[in-house]
Amino acid sequence: MTTILGIETSCDETSASILIEKDGNIDIKSLVILSQDVHRIFGGVVPEIASRAHLKAIVPVVQQALEDASLTIDDLDAVAVTHAPGLIGALLVGVNYAKGISLAKSIPLIGVHHMEGHLFAATLEDQNIKPPFTSLLVSGGHTLLVDVPEWGTYRIVGSTRDDAAGEAFDKVAKLLGLPYPGGRHVETLARAGNPQLFPFKRPMLTKKAAPTDPAYYDISFSGLKTAVLNAVKQSDNLERDKPHIARGFQDAAVDALTEKTFRAAQQYNRTHVVLGGGVACNVTLSKAIKARLEAVGAVVSTPTPRLATDNAAMIARAGLFRYQRREFAALDLKAYASAPFPGQI
Ligand code: KG4
Ligand code: ZN
Repeated sequence: MTTILGIETSCDETSASILIEKDGNIDIKSLVILSQDVHRIFGGVVPEIASRAHLKAIVPVVQQALEDASLTIDDLDAVAVTHAPGLIGALLVGVNYAKGISLAKSIPLIGVHHMEGHLFAATLEDQNIKPPFTSLLVSGGHTLLVDVPEWGTYRIVGSTRDDAAGEAFDKVAKLLGLPYPGGRHVETLARAGNPQLFPFKRPMLTKKAAPTDPAYYDISFSGLKTAVLNAVKQSDNLERDKPHIARGFQDAAVDALTEKTFRAAQQYNRTHVVLGGGVACNVTLSKAIKARLEAVGAVVSTPTPRLATDNAAMIARAGLFRYQRREFAALDLKAYASAPFPGQI
C-alpha cells in the first residue's frame, strides 16, 4: 500500500490531494482545490499575486487534504509536487513546501511535470485507461498531441505553433468582453450562435501537408484570433454579433483540434484517445472528437471538469507512477518555467 500526497501550485490554483494505492487500485482519499479569484479583476493571472496567494494557502490546503482523508502527515509514504512548467514563483511555493515535508518526515520527494499530470488525470476516474493511446492535452499554457505507447514513454506528435488552446479561448473571451478565465463563457455564449455567420478559416487544415510533415499535426491559433479581432472591430452591433463570433471561433478551433487528434491516432493505429487539460471541459470539443473517432471504432476518454482542470490528484497520480519506478528527486529539486515533456522518444 502506498499513500502519496500531491501538491500543485503552478498557476492560480493551490491544490493538495492524497491518493492511496492498494493492490493496483488507486483511490482519491481527498482533493482540495483553492482557486485564486483575485486575478479576475486584472483579466489574467498576475504572477506575483499568485505566489503570495499560494504562500498564504499552502499550509491550510495541505492540512485540509490530510483531514479530509482522516490521515496525518506521518501516514505519508511520499510527496509529489509540480516542479515544471508554470509560473516560477508559484511553483517554488509548492516545491519548497514539499521539500520541507520530505526532509522532516524522511519520505521520498518526487518532481512532477505538470503536463504528465494532465495526461494521467483521466485514469483516476477510469482505471481501465491503459496505453497504448493518443492523448490531446489542451490547457491554458499548452496544446500537445502525445502518442503514448506505454506510461513514461511519450512521442510528441504535434503541438501549437503559437497560443495554447485555452489561451486562445481566454483571449477571444476578452475580445468579447467576457470574464477571465473565459473558455467556459465562450462555450456558453456560442450555444446561442449561428454557425453560418462567421465561418472562420480552420487553422492549419487547408495546407496540403503529408503525414510525414509536422504541419499535418501541428496547431495554430494566432490567425484565428486575428480573424476574431477583425470581426469584433468590423461589427456595427457587437451585442448582436457576439454569440455568432463565439460560435464561429469555437467551431473553427474544435474542427482543427478534432482533425489533428484524428490524424495523430490514425498515424500510430491507436484505437483509444484520452483527453486532458482545462479545455477538455469543453463539451463541444469532446463531443466532436468522440463523433470523429468513434466513427472509426476508437474509444474516447474524457476526465470530468474537476480532474481536467488543474488539481493535485493528477500530480499525485503521475507522482505515484514515478514513485513506483523509484524516480525520486533530491532536495535540490528545481522549479522551471518551461521544461520538455518527460520520457520523449
Ligand atoms: O488545465 P487548466 O486548468 O490550467 C492550465 O494548466 O493552464 O486549463 C485552464 C484553461 C483556461 O484557459 C480556461 O479558459 C480553459 O482551460 N477552459 C475552457 C473551458 N473550461 C476551461 N476552454 C474552453 N471551454 C471550456 N468549457
Ligand atoms: Zn494545467
